[in-house]
Amino acid sequence: MNILEIIDKKRLNKRLEYQEIEYAVMNYVNGQIPDYQMSSLLMAIVLNGMTDEEVFDLTDIMIRSGDTIDLSAITGQVVDKHSTGGIGDKTTLILAPLVAACGVKVAKMSGRGLGHTGGTIDKLESIEGFKVEMSFEDFIKQVNDVGVAVVSQMGYLVPADKKIYALRDITGTVASIPLIASSIMSKKIASGADSIVLDVKVGNGALVNNIEDARKLANLMIKIGKEYDRKVICVITDMDRPLGRAIGNSLEVMESINTLRGKGPDDVNELVITLGAYMVALGLQMDYKEAKKLVITKLKNREGLKKFFEFVKAQHGNIDTLNLSQNVISLKSKETGFLKRIDALGLGNIVKDIGGGRKLKDDKIDHQVGILLLKQIGDYVLKDEEIAKVYINDIDLEINRLLNCFEITSEVGEIPSLIKEVIE
Ligand code: URA
Repeated sequence: MNILEIIDKKRLNKRLEYQEIEYAVMNYVNGQIPDYQMSSLLMAIVLNGMTDEEVFDLTDIMIRSGDTIDLSAITGQVVDKHSTGGIGDKTTLILAPLVAACGVKVAKMSGRGLGHTGGTIDKLESIEGFKVEMSFEDFIKQVNDVGVAVVSQMGYLVPADKKIYALRDITGTVASIPLIASSIMSKKIASGADSIVLDVKVGNGALVNNIEDARKLANLMIKIGKEYDRKVICVITDMDRPLGRAIGNSLEVMESINTLRGKGPDDVNELVITLGAYMVALGLQMDYKEAKKLVITKLKNREGLKKFFEFVKAQHGNIDTLNLSQNVISLKSKETGFLKRIDALGLGNIVKDIGGGRKLKDDKIDHQVGILLLKQIGDYVLKDEEIAKVYINDIDLEINRLLNCFEITSEVGEIPSLIKEVIE
C-alpha cells in the first residue's frame, strides 16, 4: 500500500477501504507518514467528504490506535459530555462538577483549542499547577473519590486523534463533518461512558455554520454511538454569538466560578441547566424535569461550586493564583443604538491572535489574555459607552478590527434562541 495512492483516491472522491484508512492512520501515528502527507489526505477528506461507512471505519481505527478504558471499576453511572466547539464555551468547567454534585460520575477526556474555538484543557491549564494527565489508576480513583476527573488526550487513549487533532488545528482541516464526528466519538467511546450528551454548536463561531449540517453531524454521531451500544443525546445550540461574556482561558475559568456561585450570564445558565439535566436524567435514569430541578438545586445551594474546588484540588490546581493581564484596552461604542450582532468568529480569531490560541503546533498559550463583553445582544448602548474590555499582553491590535465585531442598529433585532433542537 502507498500513501500517495490513498491521497489520490480521496482526491478523486473514491471510497477508501478499511485497510487504506488503517494504513494512513496507523503509519501517521508511528511516524512513518509525515505531517505534510497526512494534512494532504485530511484536506482531501475536508473537500470530498466520506461515506458513513468510511466514518465508522475511521472511528474504529482511531479507537484501536490506543487503549480503551474499562469504567467498570467506577461505582455508579458514568455520563460523558462533549461540545463540538465554539467561542466562550466553558460549559464543561461548570457542568462536570455540577453534575457530579448531583451524584452522577463524570470521567471526561477533553481537548485543547481547535481552529478558532477554545479547548477545555487550555482553560484548565490557566489554573496554576493543574494536572491534565494522570495514570489510568489515578483517573479511576479520582472519579470514585471525587465524582469527577477531566483529563487531556493522554497517550494511551486514542493517540491517533491526539496527533491528527493537533495537525488539523494548524492546517485548515478542522471544518469537516466526518473528521469532527470521528474525532469526538472515538474519544467518547474509548473513554468508556455508556451515555453521552453532545452539544452540537451551530453558527458563525462554530465548526458547522448551518442547521442542516448541525443535524447531519448530530445524526452521524448518534449512529456511531449505536454501533458501540452507547446512548447519545445531541443538543443543537446557537453559536452565532459568543457564549456568555468571557472569551479567553483565565477569563472563562473566572466566569465558570461565577456561574457556579449563581452569578453567571443568563445564556450560560440556560445551557448548563439544559445539558446538565440531560446528563443527570441519563445518569440517574430520571425524568428530565426532575433532573432539571436537581441541577438547579445544586447550582443554587453551591454544591456544584464546592465540587469544582474539590476537583481542582484533586488535580493539584491552585485557584488562588488565577489572573489576567494588567494591560487592558477599554472598547467604546462609536454610536448609540441596539447591539444587534456580536461576531463570534471575529472575536474568537482576535483572542487566538493575541495569544489565547495557537497558530503553530508548539505555540505556547497566553492564559491571561481575552475579551470580556460588557454588553449582550439586544442591549441599548450609548455612544462612547464601554462595550468590552480586552486583556492583552505585548501584541498590537487594531481597534477597528474589534469594533467591526459589534453591529449596532437603531432597531432592536431578534435575539436568536440558544437551544435550537434536541435529537435523541
Ligand atoms: N471536538 C473534538 O474533539 N474534535 C473535533 O474535531 C471537533 C471538536
